[in-house]
Amino acid sequence: MQETGTNNGRGFWSSRFAFVLAAAGSAVGLGNIWGFPTTAAQNGGGGFVLVYILCILLVGLPVMLAEMVIGRAGEKNAVGALQHLKPGTPWYLVGVLGVVTGFVILSFYSVIAGWTVFYFIQAAGGALKVPEGQDSATYFGEMFESMTANPGYEILFVAIFMIATIAIVAAGVRKGIERSVKIMMPLLFVLLILLIGRSITLEGAGEGLRHYLKPDFNAINRDVIIMAMGQAFFSLSLGMGVMITYGSYLRREECLPSSAGYVVTADSLIAIFAGLIVFPVIFFMVAVHGAEAEDLVAQGAGLVFVIFPQILVELPGGAAVTAIFGSAFFLLLAIAALTSAISLLEVVTAHFVDDWKIPRKKAAWGLGGIIFLLAIPSALSQGAVEWLSEGGLFGVSFFDLLYIITFRFFLPVGALGLALFVGWAWGLKNASLAIQTGTPNFRLEKLWQIMIRYVAPIAIAVILASQIAAVFASSDDQEPAEPAAEESPAEAG
Ligand code: TRP
Repeated sequence: MQETGTNNGRGFWSSRFAFVLAAAGSAVGLGNIWGFPTTAAQNGGGGFVLVYILCILLVGLPVMLAEMVIGRAGEKNAVGALQHLKPGTPWYLVGVLGVVTGFVILSFYSVIAGWTVFYFIQAAGGALKVPEGQDSATYFGEMFESMTANPGYEILFVAIFMIATIAIVAAGVRKGIERSVKIMMPLLFVLLILLIGRSITLEGAGEGLRHYLKPDFNAINRDVIIMAMGQAFFSLSLGMGVMITYGSYLRREECLPSSAGYVVTADSLIAIFAGLIVFPVIFFMVAVHGAEAEDLVAQGAGLVFVIFPQILVELPGGAAVTAIFGSAFFLLLAIAALTSAISLLEVVTAHFVDDWKIPRKKAAWGLGGIIFLLAIPSALSQGAVEWLSEGGLFGVSFFDLLYIITFRFFLPVGALGLALFVGWAWGLKNASLAIQTGTPNFRLEKLWQIMIRYVAPIAIAVILASQIAAVFASSDDQEPAEPAAEESPAEAG
């Protein structure tokens, strides 16, 4: 244990547990709850889960540790930390890309998050019911469309969500982020267990679980592996400096490798558990209505916001069960989104607080306000305003445009930059020394070094190349390319 480090007087998490909760809160998002289960089911079920776990361990975990150590040793936000560790070089630009990415992602992530708030309110207020004589599929389809096509609703719910996000970040790392995740993460876990308890006892649940987890090893091919790797990076919130920023508030004597291990475990378990809710519910629909499971799984946002309400109203037990199960489910989504959103805003805010000396409250409200303004075209591109929507000015909706730029390109480029930074520029020796302040016997050090220097950059470069190829393929022949371009933002996001 060497110097303790003052981290430039920026304050620390009160404990390592708080840090792990906040980092897990960032990682656990909408991508875990419907992205992972549906992607798994479409790509070979249990086989995909195995490949995914390997990707997480071999590439996701090493990169997460790399980000954490950059932040803790750099004692600043994503930009400032890189500048501090490699002064006078252009490496800080990787941090700048991260800040820009966080800014843009939050603008459209908050649109979907706003929908979860809308549906939570509907469910809790008992409004998820089908009027006498109407068909429930049509009814809920129209409910969703009337929400997305209504500019007032779209903007109102983004505003509610953004205000909550900003208020937490403005209150500070300890009084805002830490305090909120200490309430929200346990609640998320309780909701998850409650929902699993209800769903696995539904008619058709066994069939659903079989469909979700039956290992189909023949389905594993190159595309599935690339897909699993992409999902792993996305799900762990890597590539834009979240873990750098959160790591910068962690004391030098804390153990980083095990912290990264806890975050990764929590994220993967919650993703796998989410499938225990989603699949029984889908197969309940199959059992009761004779629907096609494949069709339901392929729905993306429609699955959550249109199909789920139809299932909710059919649950045995009547209106009370619909309200309880429904509000629990949408609250789960809203919390998952909120703990991710605060990490997005914190990346941006910390940069302006550290490097531009803007007071935290001003930075959070000012930047959050600008992000909200940028969220408006995304919100309106979901049906309210024609030229922003699909087929309008951009060919894809404004929302999809931002989604593709950030998730397909900026995040992998950022992750590649960070892996190269640690593996080659800052150097393995320095990084290992910085880890050792809290972990004198880092037993997997050699393995980690190989992963971060060679394996991770190659893996990320392959993901990036496949994303680029997919976008070109789809613009060439107007056919959705396999596999990455096939999924729509809402599915993955
Ligand atoms: N991990 C988040 C999810 O599973 C999505 C995400 C990707 C994210 N990168 C991020 C969230 C950066 C916050 C910050 O939904």
